[in-house]
Amino acid sequence: MAFGPAEIERLVRIELVAALVVFPVLFLVPAPYGRYQRRGFGPLMHARLGWVIMEFPAVVVPVWAFLAAGGAGACGGAAWLLLSLWLLHYTQRTFLFPVLMRGQGGRSPVMTVVLAIVFNCLNGVVNGTSLAWLGLDPARCAAFPPRLLIGVGIFLAGFLVNLHADHVLRTLRAPGEAGYKIPKGGAFRWVSAANYFGELVEWTGFAIAAMTPAAWAFAAFTAANLVPRAWSHHRWYKNTFPDYPASRGGTRHGAPGWPR
Ligand SMILES: NC(=O)c1ccc[n+]([C@@H]2O[C@H](COP(=O)([O-])OP(=O)(O)OC[C@H]3O[C@@H](n4cnc5c(N)ncnc54)[C@H](OP(=O)(O)O)[C@@H]3O)[C@@H](O)[C@H]2O)c1
Repeated sequence: MAFGPAEIERLVRIELVAALVVFPVLFLVPAPYGRYQRRGFGPLMHARLGWVIMEFPAVVVPVWAFLAAGGAGACGGAAWLLLSLWLLHYTQRTFLFPVLMRGQGGRSPVMTVVLAIVFNCLNGVVNGTSLAWLGLDPARCAAFPPRLLIGVGIFLAGFLVNLHADHVLRTLRAPGEAGYKIPKGGAFRWVSAANYFGELVEWTGFAIAAMTPAAWAFAAFTAANLVPRAWSHHRWYKNTFPDYPASRGGTRHGAPGWPR
């Protein structure tokens, strides 16, 4: 079963509407996992298992959609490259990130896992199909335009920032230790949520490289999802640590701070 252009357009619109809804809601109600975990969001499940289950569709669904839509045809070099980058990110996120997570007993709401599965299926269908069409469209057959290479470079830079930031956060705690510390180094010198910053750079680069409505919708959704959470983290750090670096998040010593 493959999706046609009208169906993909409708699904991309749904993703954009979801981004518009999620953005203000997450400013008011931070997603209830990690430091914002609280009662009232239904049953909980093993956090590590939750990560694997919710991210797994982001590995398999785009590949299935890509192949079902024709697998990029005769001039699909760019499409295969972009699908490979997608899989680089999501195999890391699905299989490596949960294994490396610190803390044995973390719990996540089942609700966030279910919502992520729904999103990853939708996003996988629109992006897998759209990537296949890149290689089927003779007008877009120009093998590797400069825009594509610039986008790939931005994606890889964001990927490295995200990997490094996740590593910094993970190693803040000794094995078995709980609680939070101030992350330092890498992009944490400038922003409070360097992992989210890297993720946003990645998918913006991907959208520049692919130049499809689906890829831009994903970049928009990533911003809608992560900017409010980054803002919540920034406020949380400033409220929690009196010695939190004043230079982080655009505030310099002697200049007015961000709201607490
Ligand atoms: N594309 C998207 O829309 C999307 C959405 C969500 C996440 N992600 C990606 O998934 C990854 C994880 O996201 P997340 O929301 O779980 O990130 P997070 O809230 O920053 O937490 C990441 C991990 O580091 C720990 N941690 C964070 N800050 C810490 C601190 N100050 N001291 C000690 N430990 C700390 C957390 O422990 P606790 O669990 O105990 O807080 C958690 O295990 C990121 O790379 C993010 O970019 C992507």
